[in-house]
Amino acid sequence: MTDKLKVGIVGAPRGRGFIKTFNNLPETTVTALCDVREEVLTRIADEFSISNRFTDFGQMLDSGIDVVLVSTPMNLHVTMAIEALNRNIHVLSEVTAATDLDQCCDLVDAVRGSTAKYMMAENYCYIKWNVLIRELIRKGMFGEIYFGEGEYVHELKAHCEKTPWRKTWQVGRNGCTYGSHSLGPVLHWFDERVVSVACFGTGNHYGPDYKLEDTIIMMCKLASGSLVKIRFDLVSDRPHGLAYYSLQGTRGCYEAPRGMGDDHKIWLADVCENMNEWRPLSEFESHLPELWRNPPPEALESGHWGGDYFEVKDFIDAVVNDTDPPIDVYRALDFTVPGLVSEQSIAAGGTQLPVPDFRNYVTNSKIIPLA
Ligand SMILES: NC(=O)c1ccc[n+]([C@@H]2O[C@H](COP(=O)([O-])OP(=O)(O)OC[C@H]3O[C@@H](n4cnc5c(N)ncnc54)[C@H](O)[C@@H]3O)[C@@H](O)[C@H]2O)c1
Repeated sequence: MTDKLKVGIVGAPRGRGFIKTFNNLPETTVTALCDVREEVLTRIADEFSISNRFTDFGQMLDSGIDVVLVSTPMNLHVTMAIEALNRNIHVLSEVTAATDLDQCCDLVDAVRGSTAKYMMAENYCYIKWNVLIRELIRKGMFGEIYFGEGEYVHELKAHCEKTPWRKTWQVGRNGCTYGSHSLGPVLHWFDERVVSVACFGTGNHYGPDYKLEDTIIMMCKLASGSLVKIRFDLVSDRPHGLAYYSLQGTRGCYEAPRGMGDDHKIWLADVCENMNEWRPLSEFESHLPELWRNPPPEALESGHWGGDYFEVKDFIDAVVNDTDPPIDVYRALDFTVPGLVSEQSIAAGGTQLPVPDFRNYVTNSKIIPLA
């Protein structure tokens, strides 16, 4: 017990969903919880018998923790990650990584200056079906892939009243402000980054509180010339569709379900008898990595179809083995920065704009890299 990594969590509501996961891993235990709202802090700390409780983040960092999960409002992720990294405390940050390009510079500086690991918690990359598609791509079963889609359509108007920061940071800015759930898994499939984006919106139909575009379409060009289309919408009245994806390759294609009994379906030239024959994706589950074929019960109990468990496990494996986390700061920014540039694009009438690559950022220069 004593040599386990001590985990502190800041932002109790979303953090709550991770407590069991950290406590179930052999390497970690949650020892501290922080939230500025004392009643929320007390309720969740009592529920999990966490005795070290803080309303001040700095005090929690100085309490002897090794790892911090940052699950506060989006605009706080970078400042909190930096405070932890400066103390060489490992950081698992909720999405998105940053809310502006200056923050991206600051975050990269802090990661480069720290001995601790940083990972962004993009759990949708860890959804079973997205993992399976990635395995099939790696095995060449789709041929050359060249088009992908992701959609996050999640009517949140009532939820915005309960979590008012969303009014500023998710629906109060015009662009793909919370796009990593859609873009992240698709970029993982392509194993590339976005080099330019063009972004368009539908106008607004739910004013006066929601006066920006309701549905946003962000078109992303990848270095290979491939195209990725992202739809983002937190406002439109309709059933939720949080995890729609599609993929097209020269020898196969995939479409996620959109409801009404639809299934994950796949067409593969080498398997299907003709061009009109969809097959259920579940028929291909034997291609999943071993851990996904026989997941521990705690994985299936965790949020987002098990994604929350697998992302935490990957992060802790990286900490323990001193390897690069799968969604390190550069990959986190690959998933985040296109959305930030989409705000400039939409403001410029849908102009196609380059997306900076923070691998080329010169440390402490505060100059946004051109590409
Ligand atoms: N990956 C996912 O699937 C997923 C799902 C939900 C939320 N999120 C992310 O998690 C984060 C939190 O979202 P939420 O829905 O739980 O929001 P929330 O508003 O319910 O919770 C945020 C909490 O942070 C606390 N807080 C704010 N400032 C603080 C500070 N300075 N110090 C300590 N605590 C502070 C608030 O009191 C609040 O309890 C967001 O970044 C969101 O994008 C991710």
